[in-house]
Amino acid sequence: MVGEGIDPVRTIEAKRDGVELSPEALGAFVSGYLAGDIAEAQMAAFLMAGVLRGFSAAEAAALTDVFVASGDTVDLSTLSGPTVDKHSTGGVGDSTTLIVAPIAAACGLQVAKLSGRGLGHTGGTLDKLEAIPGFRVDLAPDELAVQVERIGLAVAAATGDLVPADKRIYALRDVTATVDSVGLIASSVMSKKLAGGAANILLDVKAGDGAFMPDAASATALAELCVEIGRARGRATAALVTDMDQPLGDAVGNALDVAEAIEVLRGERGGRLRDLAVELAVGLLVLSGRSEAAARDLAASALASGAALERFREMVVGQGGDPSVADDPWSVLPRASVIQEWKGLEGTVEGVACKAFGVLAGRLGAGRLVPGASVDASVGLEVLVRTGDTVRADTPLVRVHARSARDAESVMDALPDLVRVGPGPASPPGLVLARVGL
Ligand code: URA
Repeated sequence: MVGEGIDPVRTIEAKRDGVELSPEALGAFVSGYLAGDIAEAQMAAFLMAGVLRGFSAAEAAALTDVFVASGDTVDLSTLSGPTVDKHSTGGVGDSTTLIVAPIAAACGLQVAKLSGRGLGHTGGTLDKLEAIPGFRVDLAPDELAVQVERIGLAVAAATGDLVPADKRIYALRDVTATVDSVGLIASSVMSKKLAGGAANILLDVKAGDGAFMPDAASATALAELCVEIGRARGRATAALVTDMDQPLGDAVGNALDVAEAIEVLRGERGGRLRDLAVELAVGLLVLSGRSEAAARDLAASALASGAALERFREMVVGQGGDPSVADDPWSVLPRASVIQEWKGLEGTVEGVACKAFGVLAGRLGAGRLVPGASVDASVGLEVLVRTGDTVRADTPLVRVHARSARDAESVMDALPDLVRVGPGPASPPGLVLARVGL
């Protein structure tokens, strides 16, 4: 184990040669980087060595600790609790937070969610909520706490002071092909969750074409490591490993996602988005001490009674947004000026490209390629078919919401490669592929 007398080149060499690094060595390397004593090139080399050699569980835990210690942490101990947090590792058509948080709040849990903006093909919860006219995500810490104590939920932007090490290192990973590492993802995710302060943490680790983890086995390994780190630091932590081989909901955009989530809260829409939101809400309730049967009853009645929808409305009001979004989403959400439907295939859907749909929505303006860029809330896609569906020539397959006819046409041209139709039969993938700690 390499530990004392930190010399950056020796640390990189050790990682390159597969030597396990001590917490002290990792701490000194990351702190040196943040202080400007270790060059970007050295951190990039270290990250690549780590991706190729892997990180042990102890190294991932140590990195998590260094990341948490790099900035502020949120203290939720003044809240009456139980405090919960839910985190998705990123997918396509995933607006579950907008549904899970109100269900959890309606069931007596407290969700103080610090969220990020989307980068690349995975959308960010803040971008979605900002599609609601007036909605404010820049809540001060005391404002967040007061709202959570009053109505059980708030979703706000994580400030740059929370885990700044992850912010800088993630940006570097993004441009050096070093995101895909179980140890690096676990330390990045868990440092933010631990710093966020919730006593109960549920992770939704995505597996498949639209996720960082390509299959259930690698996603389960990531989930297990995250759960181990969270529990070792005194938080009740569990994970669901869920399918991301096709978009979760139909909507891939921002206003489109908000409208779809509200339809679920209003009881007007079922499907995999609703099913997963309920599974996640049940997971949060179980983590906070409910039996599974009680948790299922509570979550179902929060949706059926409209209590979850009311919590959503109260959050919108609390954060300055137009509450009529909860009654009639499209009366206030921005609509794209061009909407075109793609149809014309016949047979059984044998596969749906997942990540490519996210990338296309990004191309329309729903996502961003560089941090800080703005997104267009109105644009995106509705993916109307899933693996196993039977389609006819007049079945709408995808609806494109674009700023201009030209944008719409360029996306329409790409669509035939994204839905594979054949003679079938084809069965849809499972939704929850594994449970860790639940
Ligand atoms: N999400 C994160 O927060 N960090 C990663 O490294 C990957 C996904």
